[in-house]
Amino acid sequence: MSTLTKTEGEKAPTGPDSFLSVRDLRVRFSTEDGIVKAVDGLSFDVERGKTLGIVGESGSGKSVTNLTVLGLHNPKTTTVEGEILLDGQDLVTTPEKELEKLRGNKVAMIFQDPLTALSPYYTVGRQIAEPFMKHTGASKKEARERAIEMLTKVGIPQPKTRVDDYPHQFSGGMRQRAMIAMALVCDPDLLIADEPTTALDVTVQAQILDLLKDLQQEFGSAIIFITHDLGVISDMADDLLVMYSGRAVERGSVREVLREPRHPYTWGLLSSMPRLGGSTSQPLTPIPGSPPSLLNPPSGCPFHPRCTFTDKVSGDRCSTERPALGTGRAAACHLTAEQKQTIFIDKIQPRLR
Ligand SMILES: Nc1ncnc2c1ncn2[C@@H]1O[C@H](COP(=O)(O)OP(=O)(O)OP(=O)(O)O)[C@@H](O)[C@H]1O
Ligand SMILES: [Mg+2]
Repeated sequence: MSTLTKTEGEKAPTGPDSFLSVRDLRVRFSTEDGIVKAVDGLSFDVERGKTLGIVGESGSGKSVTNLTVLGLHNPKTTTVEGEILLDGQDLVTTPEKELEKLRGNKVAMIFQDPLTALSPYYTVGRQIAEPFMKHTGASKKEARERAIEMLTKVGIPQPKTRVDDYPHQFSGGMRQRAMIAMALVCDPDLLIADEPTTALDVTVQAQILDLLKDLQQEFGSAIIFITHDLGVISDMADDLLVMYSGRAVERGSVREVLREPRHPYTWGLLSSMPRLGGSTSQPLTPIPGSPPSLLNPPSGCPFHPRCTFTDKVSGDRCSTERPALGTGRAAACHLTAEQKQTIFIDKIQPRLR
């Protein structure tokens, strides 16, 4: 673990080259219990050829954010506000018909659960070949060849035979890989990978991660990578966004955020997640309390009811004033830069070793 170095003013992880630029995104669901504020004023950027990692506890809005980017929400029960600029085009106002043309072609997603992406009624091969035919105009034969090639790339044994299998004939890990093949078949410019390798063993996981890196190298694709695995994040991501209660609480290069986190929630999150190559003598510490209600989120900083440092902030700012997330390397917290540094060095860093 390095000592804390001054990082303010370093190259900001956001920039004018953004391929995807999300601005003040708000996603609300109307439910019987009330309005669920799943995403509440979220902004982030992903550059071409770069990978943005997203971390955060279960329910922090990671999947909802990314499903919204692809326009995969139910318009009857969901309100979306803000901007989702993909290569300059605002996807929030793009009609569904046009979004359909983008999905699977320019943008693709590897879903958390393969069964949401694969249909039980069509063969795996057909499901990989179809988007390829649709978006490239390839013949049936060419598309079948391409499907076999993709199955080979994701490490499916006997791809020439297995291409005619139905999803239920595949094991869980194979289904996951088939879905990855489907997402990559058109070499997307933006790939959203939501826990893509969780169900896979380490060898296959490494193979898939290499495949994603190849895609990025070859086509300069932008990738959003959601995972609970810090080892994978530090291997894959350039920049990191930490989400809490549908908001971004910290952002920076992956190196900066993992080495010198500045937000009390990130401190808690990192102390609660296993670290790659970390000492096993340090026990994992869960964050006290539970994630906030999205029906009735806390006022001020959404993390204040669980934060152990609110007494260091004057007055009741933590419970009344929503801290802003600045641009570039930033943490949305009312503690001063000096306080964050001192607390991190004295109390947090020793726990992360
Ligand atoms: N269609 C919906 N209607 C109502 N609430 C929803 C809907 N979809 C998601 N939510 C809620 O939105 C919140 C964010 O969910 P989301 O799936 O984005 O979490 P996540 O960060 O991806 O968590 P995990 O790490 O468990 O995958 C959750 O509280 C979830 O229950
Ligand atoms: Mg999720």
